[in-house]
Amino acid sequence: MDSSADSGAVIEVAGLGKVYGSLVAVDDLSFSVRRGDVYGFLGQNGAGKSTTIRMLLTLIRPTSGSIRMFGMDISRHRSEILARVGAVIEKPDLYGYLTGRENLRILARLSGCRDRKAIDRVLDTVGLAARADDRVRTYSQGMRQRLGIACALVHDPELVILDEPTNGLDPQGIADIRNLILRLSREGGKTFLVSSHLLSEMELIANRMVIIDKGRKVVEGECRTLLDPERQVVHLETMDDVQTRVRLARSRWAAHIEDDPQGRIRLSLDRADVPQLVRELSDMDVQILALRPFNRLEDYFLSLTQAG
Ligand SMILES: Nc1ncnc2c1ncn2[C@@H]1O[C@H](COP(=O)(O)OP(=O)(O)OP(=O)(O)O)[C@@H](O)[C@H]1O
Ligand SMILES: [Mg+2]
Repeated sequence: MDSSADSGAVIEVAGLGKVYGSLVAVDDLSFSVRRGDVYGFLGQNGAGKSTTIRMLLTLIRPTSGSIRMFGMDISRHRSEILARVGAVIEKPDLYGYLTGRENLRILARLSGCRDRKAIDRVLDTVGLAARADDRVRTYSQGMRQRLGIACALVHDPELVILDEPTNGLDPQGIADIRNLILRLSREGGKTFLVSSHLLSEMELIANRMVIIDKGRKVVEGECRTLLDPERQVVHLETMDDVQTRVRLARSRWAAHIEDDPQGRIRLSLDRADVPQLVRELSDMDVQILALRPFNRLEDYFLSLTQAG
């Protein structure tokens, strides 16, 4: 039954698209989340994070593409999949006039969880045990957010999806959520997909991430690699790019060639190998016009500041 659980990918999104009238909210998006990942889902306001997450949770229907979770197609195994997922989308829906514990009880019942101990357990996990019998109205932002997460955890899901869980929180509140995610990941073995518009925040918790912009993927990968200053991505401009591609494809640099949305020649390599690349290009009779360093994250943040 659980055979898919060990196959690696907990979420596999392929060619996902969502169109609202003339607006393309999510555009041909593909990424995968592996078991045990704290997966960062990064993008500025309006990038399409919440729309994607809503599609993952079947709250809205994709215009195109496919979503597989735990190795199953979401359109065919909806309830089976969602029973293994916990989520908080944007602001958690909580009843202010009820206590934290009462909110949890309602949610637990809805998700078919009748275990009273589960409620105590999650209250404890999110550090709300002492305030569990106060009305949610009296909670701080951070406490509401933590209660939202408790609701997502009550049926002990394998995968937890959090949409901007630290939005509107002060530094202490942000640190609390961060530590909670890390603890649940390390000790609880849960897989997380966490969206944010802050790279600085993702760096601290995520092991892998995808960055999206205007619904499209900018980059996906291991945070270690993406943030590694020793790793260099370059764009190569030559007298004859078509021929250069052919020559590169036959050389030992073939494995370093990456797709570029603008169709430029892009290579990813160790910084220390750049001089060697230039030497070998010259040996291949490639006439270099320009070799431009390209930092995907810098590019992304440049686009952010330009937009802002
Ligand atoms: N129901 C809808 N009808 C029309 N357009 C929508 C709808 N929902 C989202 N959009 C549009 O889709 C785009 C992506 O929105 P989305 O909420 O997914 O972005 P986001 O990355 O979550 O942004 P934020 O960081 O502000 O939460 C935006 O341009 C938004 O206006
Ligand atoms: Mg959003």
